[in-house]
Parts: sequence; structure tokens; C-alpha cells
Amino acid sequence: MVLFYLSIFVLLYAFYLFSKRKHNYWKQKGVKSPDPMPVVGNFGKVMLLKESVQKLFQNTYKQYPNEKIVGLYRGFTPMLLLRDPELIKQVLIKDFPLFQDRGMSTSRSKLGKNLFEADGETWRILRQKLTPVFTSKKLKDMIPLVEQCVENYIKYVEHLTENNINHEIRSLQSKYTLQVIGSCAFGLQLDTYNDNEDEFSIMAKRIFNPTTFSRALILLDMIIPGVRKLFNTASDLQNFFLNLVSKVIKQREHEPMKRKDFMDLMIELREQGKVSRKSEDGILEIDMNDGLIAAQALVFYAAGFETSSATMSFMIHELALHQDIQNKVYDEICSVTAKHNGKINYDCIKEMTYLEMVFDETLRKHSVAGLLIRKSLTDYTLPGVNVSISKGTPVLISVSGLHWDDQYYKNPEVFDPENFSAERKIARPPCTYLPFGDGPRNCIGMRFAIVQSLMGMAAFLRKFKVEPSSRTKSALDYKPTGLTLESKDGIWVKIVKRTPATQ
Ligand code: HEM
Repeated sequence: MVLFYLSIFVLLYAFYLFSKRKHNYWKQKGVKSPDPMPVVGNFGKVMLLKESVQKLFQNTYKQYPNEKIVGLYRGFTPMLLLRDPELIKQVLIKDFPLFQDRGMSTSRSKLGKNLFEADGETWRILRQKLTPVFTSKKLKDMIPLVEQCVENYIKYVEHLTENNINHEIRSLQSKYTLQVIGSCAFGLQLDTYNDNEDEFSIMAKRIFNPTTFSRALILLDMIIPGVRKLFNTASDLQNFFLNLVSKVIKQREHEPMKRKDFMDLMIELREQGKVSRKSEDGILEIDMNDGLIAAQALVFYAAGFETSSATMSFMIHELALHQDIQNKVYDEICSVTAKHNGKINYDCIKEMTYLEMVFDETLRKHSVAGLLIRKSLTDYTLPGVNVSISKGTPVLISVSGLHWDDQYYKNPEVFDPENFSAERKIARPPCTYLPFGDGPRNCIGMRFAIVQSLMGMAAFLRKFKVEPSSRTKSALDYKPTGLTLESKDGIWVKIVKRTPATQ
């Protein structure tokens, strides 16, 4: 019995020493780091679902105002947080080839081969193939589809304002963005405003609501990297999207629709044939088959839906609280649309410079994708701080940390679109405003996101005024879970239809 307890004690002590040695990594390099806890490192609160990963890095950014870099541990894995804009520029842009990967691939399924998760040569080929799909010209061709969605959205809000005073804006905006992405990425005409949800909407929502088992795997993967890859979860979800995209492609092969949406453009890419390249793992072949097209369509949805609808909701929330800013936006919308025969189209959106400043400030104050990640592909010495990191080290950038740093934005808690006046933009160092990331791996859908959001917002604000309601909070609490920023209790405002008296 004594021997049993002694062995347990020795094992625990050995584990303690192992843990201590692993968690000594940053100290040995002279890099400051918040104290890690045994096993979970600095991810204790994240694992207990009390803090989002985004918030963990934002807090760490704030905690070390005089450091250019800060070390953290996810389990036993050392991660490096970059605080200094020069270093951020170095990693995202100047030394991009050494930090091209995110190292986030989590799945072995067919749909795992998407632009966001792909790394190495696969990412390079995919990005090269998909970049032409997002040019201004292609975007302009898609505008009639967006216009149709804007029309449906405004009709629905008109009906909504007939009787109710308190409106939850987040779910309202989701209906609009889901319709846009359903139309542009999957070629579907969804009736998102109907109370009876269609199968696509139900399945699409499941992507953001993983099962308890998938959630547990995500958390376990933080401690034991790679464990998530061993399981193929949500195969019914994957099969649904694969079948759906195959059906759409088949339909278009027989009777080309020429909608000029992402699906049409990706089908066109298929005609270019296979791409073969040499890679570290031998010859790599990328063929735009149904599975690969489905993977990209799904990631356009996953990366674009929550982010865009959250941004529009935060914007409405701020405008309800700042009537002076809303009035200025409204005046601009009226004067610009008057020059375009009352229409809200691609060209007039470009002239709404103040609306765009409000959009930029919304993403500054509420950074919906508040964390960027890269992986070092070699051993690397960080210039200026002379610290070297090993190949494979995850390097992180806290977008929300930068956006709330009073060195770059005076009174960051105040919503101030003037932060994006030409003078203030020029005066700020590069890489201090990163809502869409930066460098060759930035958000490929940025322009699409801006156009769909501004078209929706311009049409909405021209017809309706938003005011605080009894449920509107002056400062929002965010959910401690989830990868993108989301308000804990929804976003509530009063929507009033504009009449000549309120104009
Ligand atoms: C307001 C809306 C959006 C925000 C704030 C946003 C933000 C971001 C950010 C921060 C990244 C990572 C960039 C980096 O690591 O440097 C990203 C990547 C990406 N986004 Fe967006 N995004 C938005 C909308 C969209 C839309 C509408 C689409 C598609 C139609 C999209 C597709 C993607 C894809 C595919 C990637 C991965 C790119 C790559 O790895 O090459 N995003 N986005």
C-alpha cells in the first residue's frame, strides 16, 4: 500500500516537474508571460467557458503595455502574442512566406479543404484560384442578387414595424445576411423571413452551434493538439452540404443560369483543369471537383455570415445611441441617392464616405474577428526584440487589443467615426487597424462584406430611424464563448418608420 501511494506521489511530482519545465519556456527566453496554471496553461477560463479566446488575448495585450511581445501557453504549447505594430507588419506582410499558415486545420473531411483551414501549397493554389472570384468587376456583377435581398429585407422590416416597439436586431440582420450568402455563395433563393425555417437555414445554423461532443473536442484539442482531427464529427451536416452543392452544379451543367454568383465562378474554375505542384509531401493535385467547391462555398458562409450580421447589428446599436451620427448618415444617404435617381447601388455606396467611416468605427469598437493567427514555418528571430521562436510556434495578434489601445485611438470606449477621417488614418501607424487582417492572407471577402453591409444599411437607414428602447443597453456584454464577437443578451432597439415628420 505504501508503495502504491509512493508511486502516485512520484508520478505526480514527475508531472509537476514536467509541467514546470514546459511552462518555463518563455521565462528562459526573457519573454514576459502571465502565470500559467498546471496542464491548462493560460487557457483555464477559456476551458471553463468563462472567457473567450479573443478576450484572453485582449486582456493579455492590455496587461503588458510596455512589452512588444508576450508569451502564453495553451496547455503546454507556447504561443506568442505580438503587441508591436512593426513586428505585426513584419509577420503579416514583410516575412509572410515564413508565416503563411494558420495551423488551424481541424478536420479530415472533404469540407476541411477550404481556404480558411488550408495551409502550405494547398492554400497557395486555392487562394490563387479564388482571388479572381472576388474582383470588383465580379462583385459588381453580383449586385443585382444583393439588391433583391435588400428589397426583401426592407419589406420585412416594414411589416415588422407595424406593431412592435422592441426589436432584436441580431436575428433580424442574420435573416438578411443569410439570404445574401445563400444567394451569392450557394445560388439558393431562401425565404429567411418565413417563420418555418428551410433545411438549409437549419443546417447552416448548426455550424455555429456544435454538439456537446464537438465542443468537448474543441476544448480538449487546446490541451492535446490534433485530437480533434481523429474524429469526423457532424458527418450528416457535411453530407447535406456536399449533396446540395452537387445538385446545384448538376442543375447548372444542364441549364446554365448565368447568375454570375460565386457558384457560377467556381464552376468556371473547374474548366481550367487540375493544378499539380510539387510540395513537401510530394506531388499535390488540386482539382475543383464538387467536394472542393462545396468546401469553399461553406467557408464563405462560415466566415462571412456571422461576421457581417454581427457588424451590421453593432452598427445599428451605436446609431441608436448616437442620434447626431445617425442624422449625419441619413443626410448623406439622401443627398447621394438623390444624385443616383433615388437608387442604392454599387456606385452610390462608394460615395457614402461617412457611412463607411461609421462602418469602420463599428469594426474598431466591436472587432467581430478579434484575433489573427499565424504559425512560424521556420525557427525565427524576431527583429527588434532579438527573441527566437521555434518552427511551429503559433503567433497571435489581438485585433481588439490594438483597437482599444489609447495610443492609437483616444478614448477607445467612445464611438467616434472621426477616427477614420483621412487625417487620423494617416497619423496612425500601419497595422493598428486590422478588422479584416492584413497581408496576402487577409480576408478574401472583405469587399463583398463591405458592399453587402453598406447596401443593406443605406437602404435600412433611409427608410427607418433607430432609437434606444427600454431594453437597449448602453454598453454591451459579449458572450464568453464563440470565435466571433456576439452580444450576450441580443441587441435591442426601437425601429421607427420615417415619415416626413421624423425626417
Ligand atoms: C464584416 C465581415 C467580415 C469580417 C470582419 C471578416 C474578417 C476576417 C478576418 C479577420 C480574417 C482573417 C484574416 C487574417 O488572418 O489576416 C478573415 C479571413 C477570411 N474571410 Fe472574412 N470577414 C468578413 C466577411 C467575410 C465574407 C463575406 C467572406 C466570404 C464571402 C469571408 C471570407 C473569408 C475567408 C475565405 C477567409 C480566409 C482567407 C484565407 O485564409 O486566405 N469573410 N476574415
